[in-house]
Amino acid sequence: GKGGHRHFMLKEIYEQPAVIGDSLRTFLDPARGTIEMKEMPFDPGRLTRMLIVACGTSAYAGMVAKYWIEQLARLPVDVDVASEFRYRDTPLTAGEVAVFISQSGETADTLAAMRHARAGGVVTIAVVNVPESSMAREADLVLRTKAGPEIGVASTKAFTCQLVTLVCLAISLGRARGTIDTARDQKLTQAIAEVPSRVADVLNNDGRMRSIAESLVHVTGVLYVGRGTAFPIALEGALKFKEISYIHAEAYAAGELKHGPIALIDDGLPVVALAPSGPLFDKTASNIEEIVARRGRVILITDEAGAARLSDLVAEVVVLPTVDPVVAPLLYALPVQLLAYHTAVLKGTDVDQPRNLAKSVTVE
Ligand code: F6R
Repeated sequence: GKGGHRHFMLKEIYEQPAVIGDSLRTFLDPARGTIEMKEMPFDPGRLTRMLIVACGTSAYAGMVAKYWIEQLARLPVDVDVASEFRYRDTPLTAGEVAVFISQSGETADTLAAMRHARAGGVVTIAVVNVPESSMAREADLVLRTKAGPEIGVASTKAFTCQLVTLVCLAISLGRARGTIDTARDQKLTQAIAEVPSRVADVLNNDGRMRSIAESLVHVTGVLYVGRGTAFPIALEGALKFKEISYIHAEAYAAGELKHGPIALIDDGLPVVALAPSGPLFDKTASNIEEIVARRGRVILITDEAGAARLSDLVAEVVVLPTVDPVVAPLLYALPVQLLAYHTAVLKGTDVDQPRNLAKSVTVE
């Protein structure tokens, strides 16, 4: 059942603190306070790049992982959507490693991409939620997310469980490659261990997201912006918004605004800006100032320090807990899910089964 919630999607959004914790426990050793990944079927120290391939929301989890793996493990990462990867005829090197991310483990393009990579001698890692799926059976290494069954067509808890699994992969790779020192490792592990409680805190903003959604029901479009790992979260926010509310939404890396999309800005296009404190905050803040100067209505999602800096400028501020910038995407994923959900409910769409979509895309 829906556990007292009106829709499976809302139930699944609310399950996130628990299932992120379950997914994390596979890797987090509470006694030793470390993140351990079982034997990797390759030598992390010898890798020169990693491939990540997936579709849709899972591909956005892969984009976040690119930032993490490059930063923490100093390993270049190429991220591709599976439908492009499998047909692009890209050169593959035997012994290199590719990660395939899929909730269902059955997505036709991702499965075909995995088989294509394997045939080229690539070591395959599957990050999957369905343990008996084709991808789980065929991969060289399976990293299981513990989201449990996801019924709502729009992915929510599977996404954040993928993220927490991928940050553990990034840290494990970094440790194996000697690119994270012990102090940073401990601090990060601590920050990750606290994610389930911080995510529970984020859910306290639900009422706020609902009231902001009231201002979005009649708009013709929404723009999402962010930098760093907040950029793929912006992409995911826009995807969630369009797929269940049927209102056009798109996302840009905030630094790209002046290369075109800023022409769209006026008081009729709400802009959701994702701006956690961290090394990129000032850069995003100046983009927000540019949007406001053009009469753009900014819905800012940030933390206390960010709110102190920008709340006079923007139309709405949503204040999330202050966390290590590395784990911020795990928190910022939730308000964009809630915004899409409440807007869709207010519009009266079929939230759990949006038109034209299927839960598992087993044909290309
Ligand atoms: C969006 C959504 C889809 C899936 C995509 C991949 O909310 O659910 O974009 O993420 O179809 O599905 P999996 O992860 O099962 O391969």
